[in-house]
Amino acid sequence: MDPLPNTTVRSLEAKDVDAVVALDARIVGRRRDGYLRPKLAEALKDVGIRASLVVEHDGRPAGFLLAKVWYGEFGELDPVAVLDTIGVDPLLRAHGLATEMLDQLRMNLAALGIRTLRTEVSWRNPELLTFFHREGFVPAQRLCLEADPAAPEVRARREARLERQGGEAAAR
Ligand SMILES: CC(C)(COP(=O)(O)OP(=O)(O)OC[C@H]1O[C@@H](n2cnc3c(N)ncnc32)[C@H](O)[C@@H]1OP(=O)(O)O)[C@@H](O)C(=O)NCCC(=O)NCCS
Repeated sequence: MDPLPNTTVRSLEAKDVDAVVALDARIVGRRRDGYLRPKLAEALKDVGIRASLVVEHDGRPAGFLLAKVWYGEFGELDPVAVLDTIGVDPLLRAHGLATEMLDQLRMNLAALGIRTLRTEVSWRNPELLTFFHREGFVPAQRLCLEADPAAPEVRARREARLERQGGEAAAR
């Protein structure tokens, strides 16, 4: 992997929004203005800790990452940084740009005394899983749980409970 010349990692700035939205469209294959613009606006509002970064190549954004620091949420005692999104221009991959951004993020977090950087990856995305593995990520000591709020078994449980409650009320 040859490092690219003329690359710089810096904080995400308001002037990057259009370029990042366009970059994301090239990465995922469709524009996601509605999803990404509010996320970028939120990242830019975080005046305390500007965790989100851009990597420039020849003066233009070539990759970005969006990250946030959480204090005491989800039962955590210590602050945790969460890496939400990372993407590098498809034409500029395998030159270490993602590593450069992560290195900067890791340095920034270490300077703030933040010892946990967390992310979520789809089990069905082996490329991204391999990338994070190469970057030293391991499965967290937490379980990510999900449920279908309209699952028939959940409705059946609720109906059974209501029926029991109704029976008890009638017996009183
Ligand atoms: C994953 C991604 C960020 C990697 O960017 P990159 O700049 O090419 O990565 P780097 O060159 O810094 O590589 C870092 C390490 O990960 C490994 N790696 C990177 N991409 C990999 C892949 N697709 N498969 C396996 N390993 C990979 C590299 O070999 C390197 O490891 P090494 O240093 O031990 O050799 C980039 O491929 C990408 O943007 N993918 C799409 C991500 C996405 O869908 N994001 C959501 C929307 S933005």
